[in-house]
Parts: sequence; structure tokens; C-alpha cells
Amino acid sequence: MFSEWISSHEDISAEEAAAEISVPQESAMGHYTFKCFKFAKRFGVTPQGLAEKFVARPAAEWMENISAAGAYVNIFLNRSMFAEKTLADLHKKNAGYGGGNIGGGRVALVEYSSPNTAKHFHVGHLGSTIIGNALYKIFKFVGYKTVGLNYIGDWGTSFGKLITAYLHWGDKAEIERIGIDGLTKLYVRFHEEADADDTLNDEARSWELKILSGDGQGLSLWQWFCDMSMKEYARIYERLGVEFDVIRGESHYKNKLGEVVAELEKKGLLTESDGAKIVDLEDYKMPPVLILRRDGGTLYHTRDLAAAIDRREEYGFSICLIVTGSEQILYFNQMKKVLELMGHEWAADVEHIPYGLFVMEDGKYSSRRGNVIKMEDLLDEAVAKTLAIINEKNPALSNKEDVAAQVGIGAVIFFKLYNNRIKDVNFSFEHVLNFDGETGPYVQYAHARACSVLEKGGNFSADDAIAGKNLADDESFAVLRLLHKFPDAVAEAANKREPFLVSRHLVALAQAFNRFYHNRTVLTDEPELRAARLSLTHAVKTVLSNGLGLLGMAAPKKM
Ligand code: ARG
Repeated sequence: MFSEWISSHEDISAEEAAAEISVPQESAMGHYTFKCFKFAKRFGVTPQGLAEKFVARPAAEWMENISAAGAYVNIFLNRSMFAEKTLADLHKKNAGYGGGNIGGGRVALVEYSSPNTAKHFHVGHLGSTIIGNALYKIFKFVGYKTVGLNYIGDWGTSFGKLITAYLHWGDKAEIERIGIDGLTKLYVRFHEEADADDTLNDEARSWELKILSGDGQGLSLWQWFCDMSMKEYARIYERLGVEFDVIRGESHYKNKLGEVVAELEKKGLLTESDGAKIVDLEDYKMPPVLILRRDGGTLYHTRDLAAAIDRREEYGFSICLIVTGSEQILYFNQMKKVLELMGHEWAADVEHIPYGLFVMEDGKYSSRRGNVIKMEDLLDEAVAKTLAIINEKNPALSNKEDVAAQVGIGAVIFFKLYNNRIKDVNFSFEHVLNFDGETGPYVQYAHARACSVLEKGGNFSADDAIAGKNLADDESFAVLRLLHKFPDAVAEAANKREPFLVSRHLVALAQAFNRFYHNRTVLTDEPELRAARLSLTHAVKTVLSNGLGLLGMAAPKKM
């Protein structure tokens, strides 16, 4: 509202204005403050002068008071008007409330999850999957045309090794029975034996080259290994509620690297080193990028260069987010530099979105890095523990298993999205499943509470006008301010590529709603008051459910 008001009075866009509006530390100053510094030059006045100019205008009807303090314009809201306007707008937009049009229909490609086949889906890929899924939904909500892509690691040296190991020691029946565990065993054995016998490494390399040139036996083994993993991934994605528009493995580029190499050659970027071809990045203080192996094998970087060019051609993205652990920061800086040196001006639109480690604190999962913990085990345990809590707190609940899955898995998701991406986080079930903490279950519970109040409230329509004076108390006003700010939180989460700006907002809203619920009786006998409070409760339900949806979580009605 305030940003629109500023915008309607001067040549300042609402977005520009919004960026300079904040909530003052001391509430005695006002409910909002607008800083004039950035714009004074534009109008040839001092920042103080600009502030005075605003204050001289007629105030908006929803303003209680407007004043200037130096270069700041401070306003107090008229609580009743603010309540009426906020709720009318919110109920009208409903499931779309919080969204926007920052994207203007431009394409945002979000690459996430990207596990490596022939290995279990381990907790190391949880961050990419969950953060990427949230960013995908957030970008869509703020008006981007989104493409969600899973770039499966299904090519590379490990497959030559695995084929070699299988042909030496593999047992088809056993692998069919135990699946990926069998592959892991073979992989470990390969490394043990190859330490003593280097010819195994040669054999592995030759298998890698053979499958590259289409060897039937090798390719069908490779396919078998990949299918096994994809089945496991499909189960996990289903449980996490994660979907992709495109699943495209690294193998897609295995025979398409010639063009990249030729382009690099033509632009004079390739040099020889020990029989291999590299792009030297010494001028940019980075290690060289290996493009072609001496034996002709393909490389992670080369496949990524081909993939980036291909994605740009196919989707014409304005933004390409690649969500992968922070250990690959240098790798992506190198890749972007090479794209830039190739003359692809869009290299700047490719963004690596790194995230920190998932550190497990709990007994049997204890591990500095999560990449030895199987995702399925973690999810099973989260659901089992949640079911135990439900059995204790609400044993009569119907479809307990479903709710336990929604809450248990939601708790894991929420936890990963509650901090700045890059921060390493310590995972413990005790913390994650604490219904009173800053957790997923806490937010879901507030949502379920709102649902149950609305159900008891009976016939009421959110579309009916309410008298804002009934929501002028402190508790209601605090809730309203958070409801009103939700679209800004979503926009900021998109702009900063930080889903925690949404999750934190939801916790604050759930807390404010709980205070409101405990201090004000929603279902009073006074019809006008009751309608206003139900309308507010409905709005809270809407925002919590929209927000949980953006994070990739369910919003159960009962729990
Ligand atoms: N599969 C890779 C890994 O597990 C992640 C892929 C990241 N994306 C990319 N375009 N390189 O480390």
C-alpha cells in the first residue's frame, strides 16, 4: 500500500519504493518508514526536501498519520482501514496471494536434485532437492516461466569401474535381490583390488570408452545400473512431493561434446597439457579446466559446458539456477568463466546456488557429512517418530499414517529451509520434530488449528466485508501486518534465492496467530466480531497453506 502510495505521487516505481520501505526499530516512530536518499537527485531536491514534499501531500485514507523526520517519511496505519484493505485483497487473491509478476513471463530454469546413479540417494542430495524444489515453486509464483530440471549424474569414470567389477565378481541374482547395495559393494571391491592391480584401472577406462562408442554389452549393463537407481529416486521424489519438468542425465551429452571442443578450439581457448586439452585460467587465478582427456574420455566440466549451451538454446532462459553443494563453488566459477571466454554473454545468467552441509547429530546417523546416510532411511525414521508422537497426542486422529508422512517429511524439508542456504546445519530429530519449536510441525499445527476454528465457526464467507474496527487490537494487528508482508517475503526470497525468508515468515505468522488465538476468543457470540475474527483466521489459513506449498510441504487440515 505504502509503496503504491509513494509511486502514485512521484516518478518512483512501486518496486523501487518497496526496497526503501522498512519497519522502524522503535514502534513509536511509525509502522513504516520510507528512506528518501536514493531518489532525491532524481527530483533535484535534498533527501529532506523530498520527505517534506511527500508529507505535504494529502494523506491516504488508511494512514493514521504521516510525518517527516529528516530524510525519512514515517507513517502510522489506520488499523481498521488496514485490516479491511489487507483482508479484502488477500481473500480476493486467495491461493494466488503472495505471488507476483517479477518474472514477467521470463524463463527461469532451475536445476536441482541431480543425484548420481548406481549410488543410493543419500542425504547429501537432500539440500539440492529441497532447496531447488522450493526455488522452483517460488519463481513460478512470482511470475517466471519455470523449467525444473533434474541433471542425473549417469555418466563418467565410475561406470567403467562398475562394469569391470561386475564382470569380474558380480552376481546377477544377488544384485537383483539387494539392488544398489550390491553395486556399492562392487564399487568398493573395485577400489580395493585396483590398489593392488593397476590393470583393473586400464580395463575400467577401456569399458568407459567402449560404452561411449556404443558397445552393446557395456551399454545394457549401464542401463541396468541406472534403472535400478531411478526406481529408488522415483520412490523418494514421490514421498517428498518433488517433481521435474525434465529429467536429463549427463549421458545425454556423451556424444555431443565435439561441438563444444570445436568451438573452444576455434576461439583459441584450448591448450595442450600432457596430451590432454585444457582451458588455462591462470589469468583469472583459477586452476585450468580439463576439457578432453588424453584417452578421449569425457569430463564433468565438458558435459556441463555442452549442457549449458544446450539449455540456453532450448529454453532461452533469463536465469539458470544450479543448486549444488558449496564444495562445487570453484567448479562453477570455472565453468562460467569458460562460457564467458567463449563469448556467451548469457554466462552471467547461470548462477550456482550453493548450500551447506547437513550434519547429523543423532546416534546411528552420526556423521559429519550426510552423504553416507540413505535418504529412504532418514524419511522412514522421520515418519515413524512422527507417528509415535501422534499416537501419544492425538490417538483418535483418522488417517494417521498419511498425516505422519506429511508432518514427518515436512519437518525434514522445513528444517533444511529454515536457515541461510550456505549455513551448515545440525540435524536432530528431537529438534526437527519439536511441535513447539521453530519447526515445520509448529507451522502445520497452526494451520490445522485455523482449519478447525473455521470448521467450528460454521457458516461464514471470507468474501463478506468485515468491519475493520473489530481487528484493531494489538494481537490482530500483529497478525495483519505479517499477512500484509507475505508477498514481500516471497519476492525477497526469489530475489535472494533464499527460501528461508518464506519459512521464517511463516513461523512469525504462526506465532502471532497463536497469540491472537489464545488472547482473543474467535467464536464469540457477538456476530460482527466473530465474522471479523473468522475472516482473519481464514486469511492466516490461506497464507500458511500458500507458504507451505511454496516450500514443498503439505498443509494437513487435522493433525
Ligand atoms: N551430480 C552432481 C553431484 O552429485 C551434481 C550436478 C550438479 N549440476 C551440474 N550441472 N553440474 O555432485
